[in-house]
Amino acid sequence: MNSLRKLVFTVASRGRKRIFNQSYRMRSTKEVYPGLESVGHSIPKGIFGQPTCHTHPHLIRPEQLTCGITQAEYRERREMLVNKLVAEVGNEHKTHIIVIPGACKQYMSDKIPYVFRQNSDFFYLTGCLEPSAVLVMVKPSQTEEFKSILFVHDKDSHAELWEGPRTGCSAAAHLFAVDESWPVEGLGNFLFKTISSSKPALVWYHHETPANPEIHPTIRDVMKENDQVFIGDPQRALHFLRVIKSPAEIELMKETCYVGSQSVNMAMACTKPDVSEHMIKAILEYSSKQAGAEHLAFPPVVAGGPRATHIHYVANNQLLRHDEMILVDTGSQRWLYNSDISRTWPVSGKFSKHHRILYELVLAVQKRLIEILGEHRPALDQLFDSMCRLLGTQLQQEGILPKNIDGHELLGKAYRLCPHHVSHYLGLDVHDAPLVRRNIPVSANMIVTVEPGIYIRPDDESVPPEFRGVGIRIEDDVLITDNEPFVLTDAAVKEVNDIESIVGKHSL
Ligand code: GLY
Ligand code: MN
Ligand code: MN
Repeated sequence: MNSLRKLVFTVASRGRKRIFNQSYRMRSTKEVYPGLESVGHSIPKGIFGQPTCHTHPHLIRPEQLTCGITQAEYRERREMLVNKLVAEVGNEHKTHIIVIPGACKQYMSDKIPYVFRQNSDFFYLTGCLEPSAVLVMVKPSQTEEFKSILFVHDKDSHAELWEGPRTGCSAAAHLFAVDESWPVEGLGNFLFKTISSSKPALVWYHHETPANPEIHPTIRDVMKENDQVFIGDPQRALHFLRVIKSPAEIELMKETCYVGSQSVNMAMACTKPDVSEHMIKAILEYSSKQAGAEHLAFPPVVAGGPRATHIHYVANNQLLRHDEMILVDTGSQRWLYNSDISRTWPVSGKFSKHHRILYELVLAVQKRLIEILGEHRPALDQLFDSMCRLLGTQLQQEGILPKNIDGHELLGKAYRLCPHHVSHYLGLDVHDAPLVRRNIPVSANMIVTVEPGIYIRPDDESVPPEFRGVGIRIEDDVLITDNEPFVLTDAAVKEVNDIESIVGKHSL
């Protein structure tokens, strides 16, 4: 271990100890989702279209379908969704047909694909990583049972010569523990026959922003051809399931948050005057991937000086100056689970007086917001109001905002300096479960970000000149528990002394 690694790990492991020692009692899947029976299956041996515990034992433990998640858990999720949708309409006399497509490949130019990213809703219900697969669940009226049918690309030696192995239909039913698996080309016929023979049918399909635009016309046409077909959108119910994390998901989130935290510490250690934002981005990416991430969770913000006042600055092509701070907003994606972390630090390794005042102010607000999450279980929208109030009062105390304003005027001024929300749900997507509105109280086993910031434009004459041209954001990922909130990104340093002891300590 070289000296950089030692330093980063020493500082980070203080945080890690806190993460794993905190008295958080992990609840079993049954406690989180009462009333569900696990169904036992086993993972077949063979070479398939994605890693398995047999072919990739360094990635997946025995009996798990994907890293950390068993076939039984995927099956439980499907069952919960079916039950929830049936309960929503309360009509026993319809056949429910739920159609959840996976993503299709996307191309940047002729035959040049982007890295494939599976649709999160589909992955949540199947664990299947193959492009253009479709899950269909059929629950006839008058019965409690439902069938899961997975449509996949079947084996094809020519296609596999170019793209690598596919799972194929006969193995897919075993691997994904579904009732049947068929070639995706047969989806239209299957839907047509199922709908025709089970009228009235209620087809649950999210058609507003189709997950797979290539398959969408097939599904749409089948529904048009049948009368007595009612259409519902399964996504809201699905997102209400996704927003509450299972014990296995919480473990995966801990891991991705630790990977992301380490990458931020490494970026701090490599920060020096005249290093480019691009180089810091490369370090974030290298460090995350080396620790087990597939890739970054999103194009990171690496913004020196006044560029940090642009909230979504991703050009990352300027050199860092000695007298600037750098704002980084990054995250790692590991087994599709995302971290989302922001930190701000001085390029020189030493906060200037005015940078430190602003930094400590945002840090105090951020810590207080995490406490509020635990004390009051507010809705995230309420947490945003708390942020504006706290920022407003603290900025007044520092003489940055005028003392003679209060109420809405003060909140408005704070909002102008931090015009983004303070929190979102986090998980398989960075802005996770977007159909769960942020006006419901947080509850145990949700994971949310806490990310207050201050952005003072260089030409903002309402603020004293010494504070202008500065952007600061501090963002952690927080697990809501029955007890205290649990900061999953605790390993990413954020105290002034820790930051000053780590910045610039590695020679590139
Ligand atoms: N990095 C995106 C966000 O913080 O919401
Ligand atoms: Mn965020
Ligand atoms: Mn972020």
